Amino acid sequence: MSTAIPEITFDAFQPAHRADPYPEYRRVRDATPLLPFELGDVPVTLVTRYEECAAVLTGAHWGHGYTAGISPFRDSTAAIPGSFVRMDPPEHGRYRKLVAKAFTPKTIAELSPLAGRVVDDLLDAALERGTLDVLNELAVPLAVAMIPVRLLGGDPARAADFRAWQLAIARGSDPDALLTDDAVAARGIAARDCLTYFAGLVERKKSAPTDDLLSELVAAAAAGGELTQPEVVGMALLLLVAGMETSINLIGNGMLALLRNPDQLALLRERPDLIAPALDEMLRYDAPTQFTIRVALEDTTVGGKRFRRGDGVVVLTGSAGRDGRVFADPETFDVTRYAGNRPARKHLGFSLGIHFCVGAPLARLEAEVALRALLARAPELALATETVDYQPSLIHRGIVALPVTW
Ligand code: HEM
Repeated sequence: MSTAIPEITFDAFQPAHRADPYPEYRRVRDATPLLPFELGDVPVTLVTRYEECAAVLTGAHWGHGYTAGISPFRDSTAAIPGSFVRMDPPEHGRYRKLVAKAFTPKTIAELSPLAGRVVDDLLDAALERGTLDVLNELAVPLAVAMIPVRLLGGDPARAADFRAWQLAIARGSDPDALLTDDAVAARGIAARDCLTYFAGLVERKKSAPTDDLLSELVAAAAAGGELTQPEVVGMALLLLVAGMETSINLIGNGMLALLRNPDQLALLRERPDLIAPALDEMLRYDAPTQFTIRVALEDTTVGGKRFRRGDGVVVLTGSAGRDGRVFADPETFDVTRYAGNRPARKHLGFSLGIHFCVGAPLARLEAEVALRALLARAPELALATETVDYQPSLIHRGIVALPVTW
């Protein structure tokens, strides 16, 4: 007697699933933790369940493999000097250490009053207008004020350029095999313009340093040894892209989840102490970063499957967040999930292991300040549209606009 083995397909990378990839993730996750998949012409394995995702992210045998020349992924951003998100030890740690000092609890606490002022001014203007698009009129200008302007000392008058550059580059962060020719071309133009801008800014910070991370990195480069000028420019681009798209989408996706779950919105209004743990639930439930990639640096085993050096995997962290094997009621958005003494398992929204998001404290600050002020000042918030559109990106999950009434 023969048993038919049903073929497992995966469709969530198709535009049809953009509004809600989670049912498709669940179907595949329930079928298998590890699915062989063709990413364009690159054979990879999709990692669908929490435990296997966590094992890859924290495993010493996994990394990016660009330095070793073994990556099957063609990712042009990996070639940008200083872009340490795609580097392996020891180079990775050398760069990460230089920016980590900008995200210590003390430095982040010092940024809190600025974030508060920016949000208050934006909400004052919205109240006067009577309309608000939470994404473009709150999350975007807040991220511009905090990252390219405050952290990198860029010119606030270039706000529209910062947003346009990071959007085109973020869209182009999907594996090249999944991108259209137009998206690849737009990414190239944006990266060139953005690098040119930061090269000029670095020159200016050399002669006239200001109180920001970029000036510190410029000083470290001038001191010699640790860092070159092109690396400083590349790190600025990395911080702009890694920081803006994601922190904007945390506010957008998180606010959308609240508006679609009015009981949770009401609870948060009553108990603002739940805002901080609610951010973790937002990162679990509808994460701004849906997946990341890794390469086996040595022969190794995950979930009982043998991987050979140079094999590529797509770690579906967005799917891991809904894995019922580790999260109770995974499809329920519950702002108390991470509150109290027995919090849920750590979500993978900021990744795990050596690449764990270095900017997480800043992302939390931005989102907490924005949500706190919005809930306090807009008592009757409601969605002003039935449907929302998503950016045409796979790694980054974010909506195009979030108009609300109040
Ligand atoms: C909610 C907002 C954010 C989310 C969801 C997020 C998510 C992530 C994730 C998933 C990674 C790891 C990628 C991997 O393992 O391959 C990462 C790394 C990184 N993030 Fe974030 N991020 C956010 C905000 C920020 C901010 C505000 C900054 C800085 C301004 C930032 C800078 C970085 C950098 C530089 C890395 C590379 C770290 C490394 O490779 O060691 N992120 N982020």
